[in-house]
Amino acid sequence: MTAITPDTIQWNDLGFSYIDTGKSFRAYFKDGQWSEGQIESSKYISISEASPVFHYGQSCFEGLKAYRTQNGDIQLFRPDKNADRMIDSAERLLMEPYPKEAFIEAVHKIVKENAEWVPPYESGATLYIRPFLIGVGDIVGVKPAEEYIFSIFVTPVGPYFKGGLQPANFLISDYDRAAPNGTGAAKVGGNYAAGNLAGKLAKEQGYADAIFLDPATKTKIEEVGSANFFAITADNRFITPKSPSILPSITKYSLIDIARERLGMEAIETDVYLKELASFSEAGAMGTAAVITPIGSIVHGEHRYVFGNGQDVGSVTQRLYNELVGIQFGDVAAPEGWIQKVELG
Ligand code: PLP
Ligand code: COI
Repeated sequence: MTAITPDTIQWNDLGFSYIDTGKSFRAYFKDGQWSEGQIESSKYISISEASPVFHYGQSCFEGLKAYRTQNGDIQLFRPDKNADRMIDSAERLLMEPYPKEAFIEAVHKIVKENAEWVPPYESGATLYIRPFLIGVGDIVGVKPAEEYIFSIFVTPVGPYFKGGLQPANFLISDYDRAAPNGTGAAKVGGNYAAGNLAGKLAKEQGYADAIFLDPATKTKIEEVGSANFFAITADNRFITPKSPSILPSITKYSLIDIARERLGMEAIETDVYLKELASFSEAGAMGTAAVITPIGSIVHGEHRYVFGNGQDVGSVTQRLYNELVGIQFGDVAAPEGWIQKVELG
C-alpha cells in the first residue's frame, strides 16, 4: 500500500482514524527532570516491559484540534484548557505532570511541523492533536513510575460520529465507565477501557454509542463514552449533567458561555434525570471529536425517547453549532483568549 501524503489525501472523505504524519513530539522525564522536547520521526516508542503504563494503567491523554481558516491561517481552540486538564489527570494518577507553558508550546510546535497536514478550510476536516503521558521504567510493585514520556501525535480527521451534524441514536448502557469517587473526571486510559464493552454492544445494535448513567443511583444521565451530554428543555434552557464522575469537557464549558452570552439562554450544569428525558425538545453530544452531534433518540430498556422529529437538527442545536464551529474556524469573533494562532514563519 502506498503511504498517504498531504498531496494524495482525500480531505473530505476522512473518518476518525490514524494516519502517520511522520512527525511526533516527545519529552522524557528522568532523574527528576523533563528533557527538552524534540520532534521524532517514528510512531514507535520503545519502553520497558515493566512500565506501569502496561500493567497499572498510568496513562492520561488530551484531545484538541487545529483549524484552517479561510485566509489559510492555522489556529487552536483553547489549548490552555487542555494543558490544565492534563495536569489534573496526571495528578489524579500520581504521574509527573507536563508543565502548562511547555504543553502549549509543544502543541504549537507539533502543529507547525505538520502544517501541511492541517486540512483545507471547508473540507469538513481538521487536524486532531493527541497529547499523552505514560508512566515508564522498571516497576513491578503497585506504585507510580519514576520516569515518564510526554508525547504528541497529530492526525487529520473527519467526523467522529458518521454523518457529522446528522442526528444520531444512542443506547443507555447497564455498565458503568467510572465509579462515584473514581477517575471519571480525569482523562485517563482506564476510563476508556472500562467503557469499550458498552460502546461495542451499543454499536452492534446499530447505535452511534453508549450513554452512561451515574454509577451511584443509575437515575441520572452522565455522558457519552466519548463526549458530554446536553439537552434543551421545553422552556428553552441549556442543561448539562453536573457530576464528579464525568469528564469536564472544554466544549461543554464553551457552549455554556455561548448559550448564555450569544444566544441569551439560561445555561446550567445540574442533575439530568432519566425521567426528564421525555420532556426535552433537543439533545446532543459535545466534545472535541464529536463537535456537536445532535441526538435523534435515546433508548433505555423498553423506552425510546425521541427529540424533535428524530431526523432533523433542532434550531437551538444548529445555532450553538454555528457559533462554536464559526469561532473555531475563525468565521465568527471569538471570546477573549479562546483562539491561538499558530505562527508558521
Ligand atoms: N467526555 C469524554 C468521555 C471524552 O472523551 C471527551 C473528549 O475529550 C469529552 C467528554 C469532551 O471533552 P472536550 O470537549 O474537552 O473534548
Ligand atoms: C476527544 O474528543 O478528544 C476525545 O478524546 C474523544 C475520543 C476520541 C476518545
